[in-house]
Amino acid sequence: MYQYNSNDHFVVTGATSGIGFEVTKSLLLAGASVIAIGRNPAKLNTLNFSTLHFVEMDFCNPDEVEQKVKLIVKDFNNFRGCVLAAGTQYILPFSACKMSKISNLMNVNLLSNLAVAKIFANKRNITEGGSSIVFISSISAIRGSQGILPYAASKAAMNASMKCLALEFSKK
Ligand SMILES: NC(=O)c1ccc[n+]([C@@H]2O[C@H](COP(=O)([O-])OP(=O)(O)OC[C@H]3O[C@@H](n4cnc5c(N)ncnc54)[C@H](OP(=O)(O)O)[C@@H]3O)[C@@H](O)[C@H]2O)c1
Repeated sequence: MYQYNSNDHFVVTGATSGIGFEVTKSLLLAGASVIAIGRNPAKLNTLNFSTLHFVEMDFCNPDEVEQKVKLIVKDFNNFRGCVLAAGTQYILPFSACKMSKISNLMNVNLLSNLAVAKIFANKRNITEGGSSIVFISSISAIRGSQGILPYAASKAAMNASMKCLALEFSKK
């Protein structure tokens, strides 16, 4: 397993469950510091590491997330990487999808994750050797199926965002 030290900072969104939780645990076990983003710190109670830093955020409000991200970079630097695992999904026919519900899913799956990725837009925040951002997308981004339009659209937008950021950030 790759070994990190406590000065290697990683950011994980959706750290309280599923993929994000397992990534957080693996990074902590490998010696890294993790800024774990989520709604409920109690869900990380089983991870007893001094290098775990929880930042509470509700991804329903991307503007609020953007403000809180500014505070994170005041407290931490030397970011080595980021895993954007926060996401939500429901299955509903389009006729039953209120626009507010679609926009909320976009806020959680796309916009708030992008607000976190902004950390890596500033060269001063990242490690000298460069850093990585992992987007957790879905096959739904490229294959349509009934009842998942908002989710599929959010993941397709995430794929497009990833390609643009790869080109923009690779120059730095
Ligand atoms: N599992 C799969 O088979 C699969 C397949 C393709 C893609 N993915 C993608 O992989 C990512 C992780 O999936 P998973 O299976 O690990 O899902 P999960 O166990 O449901 O975890 C989702 C995470 O997102 C967080 N989240 C949801 N709504 C939020 C909000 N409003 N504000 C802040 N955080 C919020 C959850 O926080 P709480 O703990 O507070 O609920 C949780 O930590 C998702 O983006 C998903 O679309 C998963």
